[in-house]
Amino acid sequence: MIQSLRSTGVAWCALAQLVFVLAGPPTPHIVFVMVDDLGYNDVGYHSDGSKIVTGNIDALAAEGRKLESYYVAPLCTPSRSQFLTGKYLIHNGMQHLVIDPRVPRCLPLDDVTMANKLSDAGYASHLVGKWHLGLYKTDCWPLNRGFQSFFGLLLGSGDHFSHNYTDVGSGNGRCGYDFTGMDLRDNETNVQPDYEGQHSTTIFTERAQSIIRDHDPDQPLFMYLAYQAPHLPFEVPDEYFEAYRGDITNKNRRTYAGMVTMLDEAIGNLTDTLKEEGLWNDTVLVFSTDNGGVGKRNAGNNWPLRGVKGTYFEGGIRGVGFVTSPLLSDEVKGTISTDLIHVTDWFPTLVEGIANVALNYTDLGIDGVNMWDVISQGESGDPDRMIVFNIDPELLQPTILASESHFTSHFDISYQASIRKGDMKLITGKQEDGDWLAPVESTYSDVVSTESQHKAIWLYNITADPTEQNDLSATMVDVAHELLERLQEYYTSSRFVSPNTPRVDCDADPATHGDLWTNWE
Ligand SMILES: *[C@@H]1O[C@H](CO)[C@@H](O)[C@H](O)[C@H]1NC(C)=O
Ligand SMILES: *[C@@H]1O[C@H](CO)[C@@H](O)[C@H](O)[C@H]1NC(C)=O
Ligand SMILES: *[C@@H]1O[C@H](CO)[C@@H](O)[C@H](O)[C@H]1NC(C)=O
Ligand SMILES: *[C@@H]1O[C@H](CO)[C@@H](O)[C@H](O)[C@H]1NC(C)=O
Ligand SMILES: *[C@@H]1O[C@H](CO)[C@@H](O)[C@H](O)[C@H]1NC(C)=O
Repeated sequence: MIQSLRSTGVAWCALAQLVFVLAGPPTPHIVFVMVDDLGYNDVGYHSDGSKIVTGNIDALAAEGRKLESYYVAPLCTPSRSQFLTGKYLIHNGMQHLVIDPRVPRCLPLDDVTMANKLSDAGYASHLVGKWHLGLYKTDCWPLNRGFQSFFGLLLGSGDHFSHNYTDVGSGNGRCGYDFTGMDLRDNETNVQPDYEGQHSTTIFTERAQSIIRDHDPDQPLFMYLAYQAPHLPFEVPDEYFEAYRGDITNKNRRTYAGMVTMLDEAIGNLTDTLKEEGLWNDTVLVFSTDNGGVGKRNAGNNWPLRGVKGTYFEGGIRGVGFVTSPLLSDEVKGTISTDLIHVTDWFPTLVEGIANVALNYTDLGIDGVNMWDVISQGESGDPDRMIVFNIDPELLQPTILASESHFTSHFDISYQASIRKGDMKLITGKQEDGDWLAPVESTYSDVVSTESQHKAIWLYNITADPTEQNDLSATMVDVAHELLERLQEYYTSSRFVSPNTPRVDCDADPATHGDLWTNWE
């Protein structure tokens, strides 16, 4: 009797769950748009002296929630690694620069990706665009990292029209000659010859639209749309270049502006298709850059922030980002979030917060935080939150100023590292370019840093001083020491993984693989 009651109870429970699943709201679709090297000042809604026009992006951001204390890594591979795994770079050895095309390195194969988790939860998961998380063996490729389809490039850059890439050799040492090959795949098949002449932004958008049109709306969709624009090389169809004649005379900046406006049009097309197909009301769209603008060379601009891509000044790591969705609460629509949000937060935010999948943070090694209630409901985040941006002991400041050498008793400040806690941010090591670069089309002038090139520590109150004018390392020494001690704890922890920096391998040469960038192991 007891036995049969119990089994009836179990059956009822199962039935109730089934009814709940059948009647419950459909799990939201997730479209994550990652753009490449977009500067802080290169969206219309941040524009300060910039002439770049982004009407669709501005409108989507204005309907959604702008993330104005949002941090990414200063380079492509590190941001993408943290985005897909939720782990700090110091916890999987991805902290040293980007993946060189000749080097046998990829996102560690034991890392679980967001795409793995969302696929397991029933999502259709697609990657359209740039991978840049390793190609030397096929185990590293997107289809083996949780994506069910892939259309795009395995490397980090290529000609936007030909989809070929030349990796310039060093001229000496092991295989110091140029490597040239095709880099455009549909799943694992080389399709470069079919798309030669069409711009990367066009073909990625068209593929994203066709995935949306073919998608069964009853199944949740996860699309990671990683545009290669506006990354180098400077290439855009003439009409977009011509649109800035009169506004921008500098040729690189004008081409870059055209690439951003083309991207803006593409995002308009993408959201139109989501609406036409009836998916939009159940979609969360995230827009994010992978790092700040490069500065003079590629004309991406971060004014009024300090520094460029590759540095831990705000210009390198404070990213343009917003979330837009009819599913946000009405109270937060059209508002700004100043909560500290980090690129590692997307994994728990999307998987646990949006897709409602329970995560074991310890098992997965997740360092990010589920920010969904902060973003979508306006709950307040932890104002004293700490984020470890990086510790790279392989990237050294060779000579340190005598006046700063005493800090090294807490942490070796010749290492490139950065940490934020509450209002305060500490940076150590070599930072290539700490100037304040003005948009060339503006009436402003660049402000050139007068600091010694051997300087190796900076401390800022970012809330009070977002443009990093007042280095407090010499005056708030206790705060500097405390943050250096935190870095040292992370550096000496058993979870710290040293940078994975294998040697170049001449077998990577596409000339030995039918002119194709491909696996060589
Ligand atoms: C890519 O793989 C997916 C999943 O197997 C499949 O649905 C799709 O048709 C493939 N695309 C091509 C072009 O083969
Ligand atoms: C791209 O590379 C392929 C293979 O080497 C070659 O056939 C093609 O002409 C190249 N395209 C351009 C525009 O260089
Ligand atoms: C957007 O869609 C329009 C209409 O189909 C098309 O002409 C245009 O080329 C598309 N732009 C981009 C960047 O995808
Ligand atoms: C989406 O929501 C809007 C506003 O509530 C409604 O007018 C529209 O019919 C909905 N569209 C679909 C496809 O459900
Ligand atoms: C997470 O996994 C670890 C190790 O497998 C286990 O000890 C722990 O209990 C799990 N935590 C939760 C909340 O399930």
